[in-house]
Amino acid sequence: MNTTNTYNLFDELDDFDLDEKGQERFVRRNPKKLPKSEQAFLHKQDDSVAGFKFTYKAARFESWWLLDSLGEFYEHQWVSDVLRRVKGGKEASVYQCRAGSAIPGGGLVAAKVYRPRMLRNLKNDAAYREGRTDLDSEGRQVINDGDLHAMAKRTAYGEELRHTSWIAYEFDTLQALREAGADVPEAYAMQKNAILMGYVGDDVGCAPTLSEISLERSEARPLFERVLRNIDILLACKRIHGDLSAYNILYWDGDITLIDFPQVVNPEGNRNAYKIFERDMERICEYFSRQGVRTDARKLAGDLWQSHGYKTRQEVDVRLLDGEDPKDRAIWQKQKSGR
Ligand SMILES: Nc1ncnc2c1ncn2[C@@H]1O[C@H](COP(=O)(O)OP(=O)(O)OP(=O)(O)O)[C@@H](O)[C@H]1O
Ligand SMILES: [Mg+2]
Repeated sequence: MNTTNTYNLFDELDDFDLDEKGQERFVRRNPKKLPKSEQAFLHKQDDSVAGFKFTYKAARFESWWLLDSLGEFYEHQWVSDVLRRVKGGKEASVYQCRAGSAIPGGGLVAAKVYRPRMLRNLKNDAAYREGRTDLDSEGRQVINDGDLHAMAKRTAYGEELRHTSWIAYEFDTLQALREAGADVPEAYAMQKNAILMGYVGDDVGCAPTLSEISLERSEARPLFERVLRNIDILLACKRIHGDLSAYNILYWDGDITLIDFPQVVNPEGNRNAYKIFERDMERICEYFSRQGVRTDARKLAGDLWQSHGYKTRQEVDVRLLDGEDPKDRAIWQKQKSGR
């Protein structure tokens, strides 16, 4: 079975729902109703990483998906066990894992495992992808004409490349930001569906997000400054988070950790860049003003943006414009006349 069919099969088997108490749970189809070839494929999955038995009691299909997604981490001894699912989401679930011998110091690590339907649903990603080249599974830019064509035409293979690129951006961004001194988890490894990174929290559970807690008055201001410092580092690394809010910042022992980067945007060459940046700033300011910090999102956004020499009105790279599209032609005319 090729990778795309595998995703489709898992996607079909895996459904996500909330029970009557609003708790997440996996709703499963009956495996006996699958065609024989698919049943055989799933059983083969069990054998392929036979040594990988984990403590976490996953439902049947989730367990297959985990073997498929984390198998390589296990083989390369990045992880030795999956302990619990700390968060399930629409697009990804995060698991607390025990580090394998390849990670100095051992301890706990977090595996973010994208859900099968990511491939189908890639969040309307066009606005984010504009102006950023796609990355392959090694984090290299996709420049091969055949690959680019497959992505543009949205063939099954092209969709797989887009999926990989989305995850590679998250991994690459974590590495770049960490190196630049930002408060983000250390990124250890990536596989086609998953990222392995530093874990924030303790044995019992992961750190809460800022959205889940209220800050002491005295710590709100310094933490706000800390977030701004991180946004500044992001801009210096030519990145806008693109989905920054109190939901994507973890809080632990008085420190913050920014997470969730697949949709990062390049501040240069994306015509929506400033709008996306301003929305990030507004969400952050909204949270901190509720915590008693006086903020002015628009002014802060403008000042930070300009301090990095970015232009508020973006010139669109002509290579991104479609000559056949009247709207794109209008943009091009406008730019050419300097209006
Ligand atoms: N490195 C980490 N350490 C501990 N917990 C983490 C880590 N990364 C993510 N989490 C937990 O998993 C949740 C989801 O992670 P993330 O925001 O990256 O995924 P997502 O795709 O946005 O999922 P969702 O749709 O639920 O927001 C986080 O809110 C946090 O609770
Ligand atoms: Mg998130």
